[in-house]
Parts: sequence; structure tokens; C-alpha cells
Amino acid sequence: MENFTFFSPTYFVFGKGTENETGKYVKRFNGNKVLLHYGGGSIKKSGLYDRVMNCLKESGIEVVTLGGVRPNPRSGLVYEGVKICKEQNIDFILAVGGGSVIDSAKAIAIGAKYDGDFWDFYKSDRLVEKALPVGVILTIPAAGSEGSPDSVITHEDGMLKRAAHGECLRPAFSILNPELTFTLPAYQTACGAVDIMAHIFERYFTNTPEVEVSDRLCEALLLTMIKETPRVIENPENYDARANMIWAGTIAHNDICGVGHVQDWASHSIEHELSAEYDCAHGAGLAVIFPAWMKYVYKHDINRFVRMAVNVWGCKLNEANPEETALEGIACVKAFWKSIGMPTSFAEVGAKEEDIPKLAAKCFDEINGDDHIGNFVQLKKDDIECIYRNAL
Ligand code: NZQ
Ligand code: ZN
Repeated sequence: MENFTFFSPTYFVFGKGTENETGKYVKRFNGNKVLLHYGGGSIKKSGLYDRVMNCLKESGIEVVTLGGVRPNPRSGLVYEGVKICKEQNIDFILAVGGGSVIDSAKAIAIGAKYDGDFWDFYKSDRLVEKALPVGVILTIPAAGSEGSPDSVITHEDGMLKRAAHGECLRPAFSILNPELTFTLPAYQTACGAVDIMAHIFERYFTNTPEVEVSDRLCEALLLTMIKETPRVIENPENYDARANMIWAGTIAHNDICGVGHVQDWASHSIEHELSAEYDCAHGAGLAVIFPAWMKYVYKHDINRFVRMAVNVWGCKLNEANPEETALEGIACVKAFWKSIGMPTSFAEVGAKEEDIPKLAAKCFDEINGDDHIGNFVQLKKDDIECIYRNAL
């Protein structure tokens, strides 16, 4: 295991009715004038918006609202939010929604405390050191942004989807009430499940030896997702299954499973070009890309893929031909995602074969001058083109 530091200061508030304590938590983190940020309207339809507004008002907190965050959030609304924060002296941002709303809130939080363009932190690897505090009421288990130090935004100029990082971007608090996820459509639930599993895979496929704690945590979370996702799709109001999913989603990405070893993240970079270009759901893009990546790299460490096949998917080890077991495990990943309604091919997410060279080139663009992505296997542009073709 490698040396690491781990600081995860988010105050998690879990369970039924916890959104009714929002005012108390905003005050605990010194919020007096709040920007309530939300998406396309699901929180109004469910009544959550009214409940949260009432709760904030009862706590004597002033509220300014900014809705309209779309999935794969864009820079335009961020600039609008930054302007509001600066003009109206907002001191706290409350994100009510999923990863897109939370990431947009984090981007506004960066811009509100910065004299330049918030995008400076997305177009380089410069760490964010100052941001307004962000609180979260989560409505979809997926991106893990409720516990992560990251924000992913697409800039409308060039449709570049990029991430900013900084410990100050971990939310001050995150309210996780599984009941708030009952209204999620099956497709969106499944997209979330894929993203959660993908966050685990990005950490599980590592070259760092002897990371048994992480390996076993990752396997436990994957087993949980394999058990709970079909239960939730069958009965969207299964509280216990929703509860396990939401907590798995948070742990999968607050990095408790990732410390002490080198992580990969190539599949996320490769996917981000799909959701930036074709506006597909991030989880749907990952369902297409991850098995294609696995097939391309498994020979680098067949034993690791065998371990996944046996410990996660219950495959029987073929001692005479372990490669067969490794491939069986990869087939299980694809089959499971297909069984929950996820796409398995490029065309299903609207992607076009003729765009492959452009997509592969965009994985690098001008950022940092790197000539590869990923760490389990370092991938160059030609490799990425092959992975996109594997996904056709
Ligand atoms: O906008 P509304 O009307 O709220 O509808 C949303 C949206 O259409 C809907 N939804 C959310 N909760 C609901 C609901 N519908 C009914 N009932 C509910 N309870 O679901 C749709 C998708 O929401 P979104 O926030 O886009 O989903 P998700 O949480 O998957 O976020 C995806 C974004 O997060 C980024 C992705 O790239 C993508 O842009 N990621 C962020 C990460 C991070 N910050 O750490 C890491 C991830 O790897 C990921 O890249
Ligand atoms: Zn993801």
C-alpha cells in the first residue's frame, strides 16, 4: 500500500425525513443567505422544493433560487450563478438534486470566491483552494459528488467536459434520504448503478500490490450493487434496497475505497467525450465504454480480472485456462448492465463511428500536455480509438 492522506469532512445526514432539518445544517455551517440550486423540475413535481423552502424560511434563512441545471451541466448557468452570488452576497449554496446540480453548485462556489474565470480550474490541473460552502440534498445515487472533492462541467465553447478538484469542494453536509429517490425512473436508476460500479472499477483495477482492504471494500460494494439494483428496479419504493444503493454510491466515490493505491480513470475520460458530444447520460456512456476498456486491457493483469470474475460474479476458476475466467467476468459485467436496461453499443447512446478519431483526440486536447490517459494501462490516442471501436 502507498502512503496517503484522507480527509472526508462532509457531515452525512442519513434517513427518512432528514431534509426537514436542512435549515439547521445550513446554519451549522454559517449559511445566512443561500442560493438554492436545482435541476429541471423533478424536485418541484415531488414537493421537495416546497418542503425545503419552508424549512429554510422557518429557520430565518434568506433564499435566492436558481433552477434549470441540465444533466451534463453547462458553463452558461454557472456564470449566471456566480454573478448572482457576487451581486447578492450569497454565503452558502444548497444543491438539491443529483450530480449535475451538485457539480454546478460547486462550480458556482468556485467562481463566487475567485476574481477570474471559474473555468481556469477546469482547463488545468490547478487545485481549487477557496470556494463557498456547498450543502447537498441528494435525489439520485450515482455520481458520488455528495462526498467527492470534484466537479464536472461542460463548457459550451468547444463542448469540453472537464473536472476541477479541491478538498474544499467536498460538501459541508449531505442529506441522504432514500425516500427522495423513489421517484427516479428505472432508466435513471440504472444509469446511477452503472456509475457507482464504474467508480469502484476505476479504483479496483490498479497496479499497486497488496491493497487488500480496498480490494475487499470494492468487492463488497459491487456485490451490494448486484443485489440491490434489480430489487430497486422491480420495486422503486423498496426503502432498504434504495438505502443500500444510496450509501454504496457515496462510499464508492468519497475515496475510502481508493486510498493507498494508484487509480485508473481512463474509462471516465473516454466516456466524458461521449456525454459531452452526444449528451447521453454519463452512466449509459460508461455501460458502453467500460466493458470495451476491460476487453482491451485485461491481458495486462489476467489475475486481477480472474479475481473480479470469481469474487464478484461467482465464476468458477478455470485453472487450466484462467484467461477464460477473466473473459467470463467481463461478459458478466456487460450482461448485468444489459439486464438492468443499459445500452451495450456505441449507436445506442447516439455515438457515430466516423467521430471516433475526433473523440479520441478530445480525450487529450490542450490540458496538461499529457500524452496518455489511465494508469492501469497507459493509453495513447490509438489505444483509445481501439476502445471506442471495441464499443461499436
Ligand atoms: O433535473 P431534474 O428534473 O431534477 O431531473 C434529473 C435529471 O434529469 C433526474 N432526477 C434526479 N433525481 C430525481 C430525478 N428524477 C426523478 N426523481 C428524482 N429523485 O435525473 C436526471 C439525471 O440527473 P443528474 O444529476 O444528471 O444525474 P447524476 O447524478 O448521474 O449526475 C451526472 C453528472 O455527474 C457527473 C457526470 O459526468 C454527469 O455530468 N459526475 C460527477 C462526478 C463528481 N462530481 O464527483 C463524478 C462522476 O464520475 C461523474 O462524472
Ligand atoms: Zn462517474
